Amino acid sequence: MCGIVGYIGTREAFPIIINGLKRLEYRGYDSAGVAISNNGQMGIYKIKGKVSQLEDAVKKTDIMGTIGIGHTRWATHGAPNDINAHPHKSMNGKFVVVHNGIIENYSVLKKRLTARHYTFVSQTDTEVLANLIEYIYLFAKISAEDAVRFALSKVQGAYGIAVICTDEPDKIIAARKSSPLVLGIGVDEYFVASDATPFVEYTNQVVYLDNDTLAVISRNGLSIKTIKNVPVTPEITEINFDFDEIEKGGFPDFMLKEIYEQPHSITDTLRGRVYMQENEINIGGLLDVMPRLMNARRMIIVGCGTSWHAGLLGEYLFEEYARIPVEVEYASEFRYRNPIINSEDVVIAISQSGETADTLAAIQLAKKCGACVLGICNVVGSSIARETHAGVYTHAGPEIGVASTKAFTAQVSVLAMIALMVGRAKYNIKPVQYHQLLNELTDVPKKVEEVLTTADKIKHVAELYKDSPNFIYLGRGCYYPIALEGALKLKEISYIHAEGYPAAEMKHGPIALIDDKMPVVVIAAKDKSYEKIVNNIQEVKARKGIVIAVVTKGDTIISQMADYVLEVPEFETAIGAMITVIPLQLLSYYIAVMRGCNVDQPRNLAKSVTVE
Ligand code: M6R
Repeated sequence: MCGIVGYIGTREAFPIIINGLKRLEYRGYDSAGVAISNNGQMGIYKIKGKVSQLEDAVKKTDIMGTIGIGHTRWATHGAPNDINAHPHKSMNGKFVVVHNGIIENYSVLKKRLTARHYTFVSQTDTEVLANLIEYIYLFAKISAEDAVRFALSKVQGAYGIAVICTDEPDKIIAARKSSPLVLGIGVDEYFVASDATPFVEYTNQVVYLDNDTLAVISRNGLSIKTIKNVPVTPEITEINFDFDEIEKGGFPDFMLKEIYEQPHSITDTLRGRVYMQENEINIGGLLDVMPRLMNARRMIIVGCGTSWHAGLLGEYLFEEYARIPVEVEYASEFRYRNPIINSEDVVIAISQSGETADTLAAIQLAKKCGACVLGICNVVGSSIARETHAGVYTHAGPEIGVASTKAFTAQVSVLAMIALMVGRAKYNIKPVQYHQLLNELTDVPKKVEEVLTTADKIKHVAELYKDSPNFIYLGRGCYYPIALEGALKLKEISYIHAEGYPAAEMKHGPIALIDDKMPVVVIAAKDKSYEKIVNNIQEVKARKGIVIAVVTKGDTIISQMADYVLEVPEFETAIGAMITVIPLQLLSYYIAVMRGCNVDQPRNLAKSVTVE
């Protein structure tokens, strides 16, 4: 969480940093701040609230300077307020620091610094780091770079930092451990940021900083060393970035834009991988690990939130087509158990951002145990993408709304491709059936398109139930993960309490909640458990619950029982089932908007959860 931007060059730094921070607000948005250095003077401007509030607050101030650092915060230590907002200045004003991550041993360090007469104004761990760097710098009389390096050797936890020293004002020192940092290399100018979006209009030359490395950028160049002071040759990558992808493109919110992008994002995910004529799936990134996949004793899928839900659908697909036993684990639970994993296991880590701290730690654990670890990530060059043995990018394009939508359908598309590819390679699927399955997969985008045309009906249902304090979501088989995802979407953006349940589990407790005020969303498109779900709907109706059912177009049975039906086009298998999430995404979106919620930046959340 938290976004960092730094600039050094020939242009005015403030507008570049402010615009960059706006693009990083998906990482946190409870406070914002910028420090600008101008002829040895350091100006710090920070505020509780969003980046635009900071911009408004300093509108009348003349902020000049061609070097600066900025931060948009998701609070960990200390409430969101002006004082706890970054940048943080060291006690004697020698260092200014922005930080993404958590300094776990900050209280021990703070005690030691207090014993050396350091005082603190904020409750943050970052101010402790700023003071630690300054203490070392003044005490040891070493360069700012060495002081930062030495201080970091005393720190436990995660950090992506950018630091300016007022005695050496023509450089930015940046370092990372477990929190991402990317450097941008322009002409006579350099950038540092949590991802490349803040500087894509200035340069496409980037260097992804590795863990435990420290970079010094000045107008004259860039140098990178490990935290142990060993020089590293910067590896420059050229990124292709479509600028339109990070704009709203006429939509009122990123979330709605991203929901509507799904026909394209799924197509992009399948493109160059599914070959209908050849009746083949070819995923370049997996060629080397195919034997391990085919011979896997077991698959363990790890992820968090929506990515975990995609994993649950993956379980269904892998067991059905690849006939490999699957376990799906919350990364945060998996990493702290003592799981039994060995070299015959394949671990698949799913993450939109590729930066989720728990998922990253789960990968490291699995690698240590000898498993083959694959990543399914959306963000190119992200930590998870680089930490895994092999992987597949989802190609969904930047997802900026905090609620994950297009990333989910892209993740499920990738899982379907892998499950089918392995299933076919193991001769579990005959060529004719394989062709039908590929057809179903490549048909998903146009079916999603069709569901999107029903938005008005969904909006109408949203209007009716936007004030309900609770919702229940039910599904069986492959619709159970969809029910969980529908419930998560609703709660995270509308703040309505929602529970997702396997429909048959309802009788074991949740049925007690049902009365004439409880909307129950049932995913009931036709599949092999259709009759069973019809029974479950009857059970809800018998208790006067309000049934909103997602059904196959033309369904006449459920239409007569349910209070409202949301239709989706027909499909045959669990692969097509992913389209049933679209009405649920739209339902949550409209309810949240009608309740006046900020759907792109819901309270207390951040897009990229880089703290555990
Ligand atoms: O970037 P990741 O996919 O690893 O993120 C995992 C979760 O934090 C994420 O899916 C979260 O649950 C979303 N806000 C759900 O919409």
